[in-house]
Order: sequence, then structure tokens, then C-alpha cells
Amino acid sequence: MARRKIIAGNWKMHGRSADLGWAERLSALFDAPPSSEVLVFPPATLLAPLSVRLPGYVAIGGQDCADAAEGARTGDISPLMLSDLGARYVITGHSERRMLHGESDAVVRAKTEAALKAGLTPVVCVGETLDQRRSGEAQNIVLQQLQASLPEAAAGHVIIAYEPVWAIGTGMTASPDDAEAMHKAIRQALRSGSGDELRILYGGSVNPANAAELLSRAQIDGALVGGASLDPESFASIIRSAG
Ligand code: G3P
Repeated sequence: MARRKIIAGNWKMHGRSADLGWAERLSALFDAPPSSEVLVFPPATLLAPLSVRLPGYVAIGGQDCADAAEGARTGDISPLMLSDLGARYVITGHSERRMLHGESDAVVRAKTEAALKAGLTPVVCVGETLDQRRSGEAQNIVLQQLQASLPEAAAGHVIIAYEPVWAIGTGMTASPDDAEAMHKAIRQALRSGSGDELRILYGGSVNPANAAELLSRAQIDGALVGGASLDPESFASIIRSAG
């Protein structure tokens, strides 16, 4: 039996109280729970007020977390604090944090480990730059990132998000063939067949026009959607594309 696809929305640094109506607008677009698993990653400031307004079939997650449960870490948010707000997932290693906050593979690994210890399911992001793609290094880079970003024996307990950096926010989406080839390489590297527990999402300019073809591929278990998730109608269209 085919596994349910996962459609996740990463709001990034968007959304304030005036945007909480997003929950009701999405809910009004479905007469029954969709066949996909639906996750939403709002900014941490909206996790509590949004979660109580979302339909029961939508799970929430944090966009990042500290690599410790608590401590003298001004401004950090611990995975236990996310869990305390009802989050079940947390994104780690997003390329924007790797670039803008200098997060190394080691930092991503530590955050992923702390998230697992807190009972969250990490969505671990990996992806190559355009130069690395053009030089034929994409697969090597992604598999190196993966091996260095995952704690031991974590493969069955995380979700992987393959997000080519050059496709994020650019309107340039990886072709379904290229995305599927990378997902297959990731699965082989983690010694998991497409029937195993491991789920791999594609992220990078997913939109209502390209979602169906991407999500029709067996190796692509879902999508991590940025810009198109901010609009409930677009996000609902992508959810419907998953079948
Ligand atoms: O985490 C998902 C995000 O990086 C993709 O962004 O706007 O290209 O869908 P976008």
C-alpha cells in the first residue's frame, strides 16, 4: 500500500497575529481530511495561537531549535519548548540557517540529536548550490552533508528534505527526474528502499503548477513548500496534487 505523502509548509520569517486566519481559510477548503499528512512550520511566535485554530489533521513544527534542552542560551528555543507548544516536528539544517547563521553539519547534527531526545521528528534539510550542481558534485555534496548531519542510527526516525539551494525562492524547480535521482541516492546511502520508514521530501519552488508531477514520483514522499504555503489556496492545491 502506497504511503501517504507529506505536504509541509515552511512559513519562514513571515506571519503575525493578523495572519492567523490562514488556519480557517485552509480548513474551509477541505470537506474532509486530505489523504496527505499536512505539516505547518510557522514562526515560533505563532505556534501556540495557530495550533489551536488549525484543523486536527494539520500538525505543527518549529523552524529551528537549540541543541540543548535548556540553559543559559539567550534567545534560543529548546526542542522541549517546541514540544510544550504542541509541536511534533522541527526543521534542522535549512540552507538559510546554514548560510545566514553559519550552521555547520556538526551544529545540524547536534540540533537533530536534541530534537530526537525531546521526542520531536526532525526534518533534516540537505541540498547543493548551483555551482556544485553545475560541476557535477551535487550528489557527493548532498551525501556528505547527510552523513555529517545525521546522528548515528537516526535514519529511521527523521524526515529528510532535499532542497537544492539554487531552487529555493527562485522559481527554478529541480526537474522531477533530477529530484528523484537524488532521493534515490539518499535512500541508497541510508540503505533504505522506498518501502522503508525513511521519508524524503523535495523542497525548492514547489507550486500548484509543478506539484503533481513531482509528487507522482515514487521516490518523492512529499514536499517542503516555502512561498506557496503562505497562501492557503495555493497550499491546498499542492495538498490536492498529492492525491
Ligand atoms: O523549506 C522550504 C523552502 O526552502 C522552499 O522555499 O519558497 O522555494 O518553496 P520555496
